[in-house]
Amino acid sequence: MKKAYSFNDYISIINSKLDSFVPECTYGEPVVCDAMKYSLSIGGKRIRPVLLLEFCRVCGGEVEKAVPFAVALEMIHTYSLIHDDLPCMDNDDMRRGKPSCHIKYGEEYALLAGDGLLTRAFGVIAQSEAAKENPACAVEAISVLSDLAGVNGMIGGQTVDLMNEGKKASIQTLEVMDRLKTGALIVSAAKLGCLVAGADEIKTKAAVNFCEKIGHAFQIIDDILDVVGDEKELGKPIGSDGESDKSTYVSLLGLEKSTEYANQLTNEAIEALSVFGDEAELLKEIADMLSKRKN
Ligand code: IPE
Ligand code: IPE
Ligand code: MG
Ligand code: MG
Ligand code: MG
Repeated sequence: MKKAYSFNDYISIINSKLDSFVPECTYGEPVVCDAMKYSLSIGGKRIRPVLLLEFCRVCGGEVEKAVPFAVALEMIHTYSLIHDDLPCMDNDDMRRGKPSCHIKYGEEYALLAGDGLLTRAFGVIAQSEAAKENPACAVEAISVLSDLAGVNGMIGGQTVDLMNEGKKASIQTLEVMDRLKTGALIVSAAKLGCLVAGADEIKTKAAVNFCEKIGHAFQIIDDILDVVGDEKELGKPIGSDGESDKSTYVSLLGLEKSTEYANQLTNEAIEALSVFGDEAELLKEIADMLSKRKN
């Protein structure tokens, strides 16, 4: 097994690399590159890239090789947040403790910065060392990420979210919405990490199962924090779901039942890690930390 990394080691690796993967603006105006760098660098928990790197490690892969895949995933996640905050979507002025991209750069450049991050993400994988060594792995990663970020993944979930504004969605609709809008990118962390490591089917299934459960819990807790969170700590506005009349776990089940459900999903996620034996310590800690998070 390759050497173990701490959570903070992973954060340092990701934060030190993110900026360098945003291209310099050689022609035209730099505003879009600046906006891309702004949204990437103002903060964020980096949960998805950390999970990707750790799944690569526990499956026997080289963490360094997986870094561009982790960067690509964080770019796609960051683009989804930039677009999610736009006035035509959730209309939120704060993100990661700073003015949202469209407040700082204007709607048109925020839209383009999101597009820029999305497009760049696939280039980062295609141009990586790992892609040169193993092109089939890179093609598969691009295919997986494209599916999970797309209309049957994250974008699909965002569509269901918007279509249900002002309505009382059923629990079944909410499950689909959350599995897609939030679960899909978290699951892609498991799939890509396992892919780079060349993990077998049993380990990949366990990793996906873990991420499906924590992904689901993640959105329930996000809904809870929108009601009981502290705006400063959270780094984004609270009460946003109520203002947009969204159906959430809290609006449907109440705070107590939502919390119980998130805890149950977290426990189920931890059970799914048994195939990794002692190597799963950090993954367990991450699941536990996410279930108690305040931001
Ligand atoms: C926020 O994701 C959007 C959801 C999917 C709920 P995060 O809570 O991971 O946001 P950052 O990356 O830490 O800012
Ligand atoms: C966002 O869900 C999911 C995506 C960005 C794909 P939310 O709209 O609840 O996320 P926050 O609360 O704005 O971070
Ligand atoms: Mg939203
Ligand atoms: Mg939002
Ligand atoms: Mg939310």
